[in-house]
Amino acid sequence: MPCGGGLVKTKGDRKIAAVLGGAKPPEPEKVTPLSGDLQPLISRKTQGLKGRIRVPGDKSMSHRALMLGAISIGETRIRGLLESDDVLATARAMDALGAKVTTGADGAWHVRGVGVAGLTSPEAPLDFGNAGTGVRLCLGLMASTPLTARCIGDASLSRRPMGRVIEPLEKIGARFEASEGNRLPLTIHGAKDAVPITYTLPVPSAQVKSAVLLAGLNTPGHTTVIEPVPTRDHTERMLKAFGARISSEDRADGRHISVEGQHELKGQELTIPGDPSSAAFPLVAALITPGSALTIENVMLNPTRLGLVETLLEMGANIEIQDRRVSGGEEVGDLAVKTSRLKAVRVPAHRAPSMIDEFPILAVAAAFAEGSTRMEGLAELRVKESDRLAAIQAGLTANGVLSQAGPDWLEVMGGGAPGGGKVTTHLDHRIAMSFLVMGLGARIYTTVDDGRMIATSFPDFTGLMNGLGARIAPAEGK
Ligand code: S3P
Repeated sequence: MPCGGGLVKTKGDRKIAAVLGGAKPPEPEKVTPLSGDLQPLISRKTQGLKGRIRVPGDKSMSHRALMLGAISIGETRIRGLLESDDVLATARAMDALGAKVTTGADGAWHVRGVGVAGLTSPEAPLDFGNAGTGVRLCLGLMASTPLTARCIGDASLSRRPMGRVIEPLEKIGARFEASEGNRLPLTIHGAKDAVPITYTLPVPSAQVKSAVLLAGLNTPGHTTVIEPVPTRDHTERMLKAFGARISSEDRADGRHISVEGQHELKGQELTIPGDPSSAAFPLVAALITPGSALTIENVMLNPTRLGLVETLLEMGANIEIQDRRVSGGEEVGDLAVKTSRLKAVRVPAHRAPSMIDEFPILAVAAAFAEGSTRMEGLAELRVKESDRLAAIQAGLTANGVLSQAGPDWLEVMGGGAPGGGKVTTHLDHRIAMSFLVMGLGARIYTTVDDGRMIATSFPDFTGLMNGLGARIAPAEGK
């Protein structure tokens, strides 16, 4: 079976079975179609979100755990893996490249790896769905091994730039046949004799950094990435845990991260903590909904991911970090949050990489703050699952919130959201969740045109929010 061979489904989870279980390989030249019709959702004004919750496992770590497991010797056991569409696409890709990915009766995911040089050509195209992290990191993983793979994705992913990884990976020796503008669908031919490079990141992107470092694992000598602006460092931390020869040093021109290739990695036991980017939604929901008090347990507190919490604290948010501890090589803690009067702040450009996925929900918080919040350094938002800067502004406008934007900045006038608007989500999960959160605090409801993409990162978002007291439901006729 090209896409699902070796996968054992013992959990009885129909979703996992459907995604991993030998689904028909998609047509090579098409974008992945979304199943079913649009699912409009409505979110109504709510009082008092209360409870203790856990959000699903971190998406960045989940992708990386599957990929490093796939090229290790022995078995990697992963607890707390995010079982979302994006991550399941990566699981299926690892399986198709020769690793064995299974779910166990113990609730963990098991990956039997093939070694750093062991990946083989998949029989069918690898379908990454909506996942930029999945495809860009996997291109790196494949780039230094002589295999050929066709990569496809949905309409959103097929619009996103792949040139940013193609450029360094070509220098290592991989060859690409990409669609116009260096986009998907594309075919990669991994290098037979990969050469090590030193590469300075032209954009602050953890995906590009990670793609180059992963390519370095099967390349002789030292592959080095110079990172002028720090970005999330999960690849570096996890590589260390798997026994890779990786070092980093801060110099005048940035952090130099170097991996020595062609040394085997060893399978690990990993526990993935809660995703701070998912925790952001109930966190802001509690801040803007009167009478709320909730605790979000077991949230990853890696400093390269904490820009939103830092910003909300500056805005006057009542957030307490409790029970800080270390789990799975990452600091974690519980976030206790209460309804707060927020005031506007200026978010400096240098903070953007540590909260790059959180600007849509920060814009919602800013709409409820007193004064005008300015966010800078947002150029990368233009190339996310949607043009997020444009999508945020359109969503604010639709709901009666005034804003201004430039090429890489956004200013949101606070004072509360009238609501009543329908938001176009453009296949972007974070736009959908952010404007559903807005509805909980708006004068009247908000609606979003399609909630299907929420499953890419936070499958039970609606159930979890409604369990706290939110009122999010299918929008009949709105
Ligand atoms: C990610 C890096 C970020 C982020 C994405 C996850 C990662 O993208 O937006 O959701 O796991 O490396 P960029 O590296 O393109 O900024």
